[in-house]
Amino acid sequence: MTVPMPPTKPAANSAANSAANSAASSGANSAASSGANSAASSGDLPNHDVVDLGLAAEGVRRIEWAEREMPVLRLIRERFEREKPLAGLRIAACLHVTTETANLMRTLKAGGAEVVLCASNPLSTQDETAAALVAEYGISTFARHGADRDMYYRHLNAAADTRPQMTMDDGCDLVTLIHQERRDQLAEIVAGTEETTTGVIRLKAMAADDALGYPVVAVNEALTKHLFDNRYGTGQSTVDGVIRATNLLIAGRHVVVAGYGWCGKGISLRFRGMGAQVAVVEVDQVRALEALMDGNLVMTIGDAAAWGDIFVTATGDIHVLRAEHFKVMRDGVIMANSGHFDVEIDLPALRQLAGDKVREVRENVVEYTVEGRRLHVLAEGRLVNLSCAAGHPASVMDMSFANQALAAEYLQGKHHDLAKGVYDVPAEIDVEVARLKLAALNIVLDPLTPEQFEYLRSWQHGT
Ligand code: ADE
Repeated sequence: MTVPMPPTKPAANSAANSAANSAASSGANSAASSGANSAASSGDLPNHDVVDLGLAAEGVRRIEWAEREMPVLRLIRERFEREKPLAGLRIAACLHVTTETANLMRTLKAGGAEVVLCASNPLSTQDETAAALVAEYGISTFARHGADRDMYYRHLNAAADTRPQMTMDDGCDLVTLIHQERRDQLAEIVAGTEETTTGVIRLKAMAADDALGYPVVAVNEALTKHLFDNRYGTGQSTVDGVIRATNLLIAGRHVVVAGYGWCGKGISLRFRGMGAQVAVVEVDQVRALEALMDGNLVMTIGDAAAWGDIFVTATGDIHVLRAEHFKVMRDGVIMANSGHFDVEIDLPALRQLAGDKVREVRENVVEYTVEGRRLHVLAEGRLVNLSCAAGHPASVMDMSFANQALAAEYLQGKHHDLAKGVYDVPAEIDVEVARLKLAALNIVLDPLTPEQFEYLRSWQHGT
């Protein structure tokens, strides 16, 4: 089955476009005060604030390397180039600025969209990718690795200044900004998409409060997204992040995984695969049982705190590891977070316990000494897989971002029929992404025989 092609929307009117352009430049100017390259104002390059355009060549090499593992997105890009389903649509994307995201941006641009990208996390930005997006692919980008909170929000505002008609979020920060501080723009936004579990939870809370201003497709809910990206992507890249940051041997360690959603399942699976003993901490009865029967220990966080060598949080909730746990942890433990926000490890409480006994002992590893025990936190408690490693491998992002691109196309054709609210990715898109991925991997499936097909439709056959 192929995805039905929604009708294309006429290009946005030129008055709206010129308003957007001047708004865009004011965004770039304000970003310029933080060091934006002056080439932006010369008109040669799209508006931007990136660390160093001189990194662009390296960025291109990496983006092209990632693209080799993204055949589904490439096919979509080639079709978008021919059909221009997003012609004239202004899209503001707030995503991790990685090589994989760069390939999504290229796809949206190929579809005719005017795209602006800002970072969805201050530590996940790959500066060479950001440079390449601007200098090579002509995509307006506001992202610097290590941005502080002010710069982070300046970048979001610069993206919002382009007066998008569609938002594409990873963690809901852009949606939240627009709903809290830029409400005048809500009337211009026809739809949005959201990439991650945490963002979807927020959107559903907004919808339940009747506060969501437009329809948003929850890309995370697509099977071809969370079964692969959350499980195998987070699983592998989290272990990768912990190892790159610490170079510890995993075999024989006690690893505590907090949260047994799709991310927690993948993290536990991969640590067990490397010879760790894994204890899962859960609050949900069914998930806890599943964790047990998948081969994990299941404990309370209180018991796990004194047992673990390595702790990884992936709950989406706040203060999972807190003062009472820091007080009983063993000397030398490692704490890392794979949830979207940096709230799962209570760092203010840890700082208070450690006082002035805090030092960076290795890149991305900060040691807090509490009552003589050295407790380590990776990447300031931010997403360890993107801060200490390169995020999910391109092969899974291929499916996640194929869903994003097709969801944008779907919304462009369909938004008139959708009320404000949170929507699943249409099942046909999900199946199409799986079909294209299997085809790219040269995997052929059996069709049902006519007899099997008939049998499944019938109800008369008994024992
Ligand atoms: N989220 C997790 N991994 C990612 C990646 N490689 N690119 C963009 N978003 C991500």
